[in-house]
Amino acid sequence: MAKIAMASVIKEFGGPEVLAPSEFKLPHIGSKQVLIRMKAAGINEVEQKMRRGQFRFAQPPFVIGIDGAGVIEETGNEVTKFKKGDRVFFMKPDTGSYSTLCLAPEDNVYHLHKNLTFEEGAILPVPYMTAHRALLQLGKIKQGDFVLVQGGSGAVGLAAIQIAKGLGASRVISTAGTEEGIQLAYEHGADVVRNYKSPDFKQTLKDDVGSGLNLILETNADVNFDLDLDLIARHGKIVIVGKRGPCQCDIGKVLSKETTILGCALLYAATENRQDSADALYRYIEAGWLKPFVGKIYKLDEAPQSHVDMTSRKGAMGKDVISIEK
Ligand SMILES: NC(=O)c1ccc[n+]([C@@H]2O[C@H](COP(=O)([O-])OP(=O)(O)OC[C@H]3O[C@@H](n4cnc5c(N)ncnc54)[C@H](OP(=O)(O)O)[C@@H]3O)[C@@H](O)[C@H]2O)c1
Repeated sequence: MAKIAMASVIKEFGGPEVLAPSEFKLPHIGSKQVLIRMKAAGINEVEQKMRRGQFRFAQPPFVIGIDGAGVIEETGNEVTKFKKGDRVFFMKPDTGSYSTLCLAPEDNVYHLHKNLTFEEGAILPVPYMTAHRALLQLGKIKQGDFVLVQGGSGAVGLAAIQIAKGLGASRVISTAGTEEGIQLAYEHGADVVRNYKSPDFKQTLKDDVGSGLNLILETNADVNFDLDLDLIARHGKIVIVGKRGPCQCDIGKVLSKETTILGCALLYAATENRQDSADALYRYIEAGWLKPFVGKIYKLDEAPQSHVDMTSRKGAMGKDVISIEK
């Protein structure tokens, strides 16, 4: 029998109000899919673009939401990795995650560590797997590296600070734009955090890093990339995770330092790379040094407000979630 969920169904593109939950009839489960009874969904910036119609892959009607956590309710007949009752987290589902039920391909679903709540699990996929991919799979971070995390108060930034420190970076410098965000980045292990709104920010950061900066994780390439090229040491790496506008730089700086520039896009990473990140995070949680930081928690019927707050907040404080069925 067809399953009916309550979900933020985008019937037409628009403002946050289009996220008000309504009934959604799920397609029948496919052979390699799992049906997840949702407990929490991550709230991601890209979902604003989907809601407004700026993301070409999402066309109405569709349920919004690209990551989350819950319990396996049903498995397709070729699924081998999961059974009914397993606690899981996932990304890139087939139906969206702002919902009481969600269908996802088995390959994009991962076992949730017993020490984590569903809210903590829901924020693992996008920020923590992205930070892991950027630092380790692409940036090849090594023990003793000196790392700069641009945007350390944000969802990806907080994850990156914890992961860089946990993997043995000798020093992690970071940036944020509010006192609360700076404090949070310190609490996640940053050695030094600078306010990018300070008038002397660029010079202070140059003084901080000297000539030994091996790796930069960049969340705001449009505003920081040219500065990053000044800061990075010769033969260093810059991994670009985000940008909010066009980006200009003096390409001569790339040549003279033989800098490696890498782009990171978790949604387009290979299945094996994402599984590798999920497995690594599981080990870090088991070892006790990785603890996902949950920002604000909303209910499903507060989904519209969560998007209003995303655009109007004073500064980032980690990643927000929607808690479902509480
Ligand atoms: N490539 C991928 O796979 C992937 C995955 C996840 C996210 N992203 C993208 O990565 C970016 C960061 O994501 P997020 O979830 O971490 O965002 P977030 O939670 O909003 O955090 C953004 C961070 O950037 C800082 N920031 C904002 N404006 C800045 C500016 N003008 N100069 C310097 N720093 C600035 C913020 O500081 P304050 O708020 O403290 O001022 C905050 O630390 C976004 O563009 C997102 O779309 C990409």
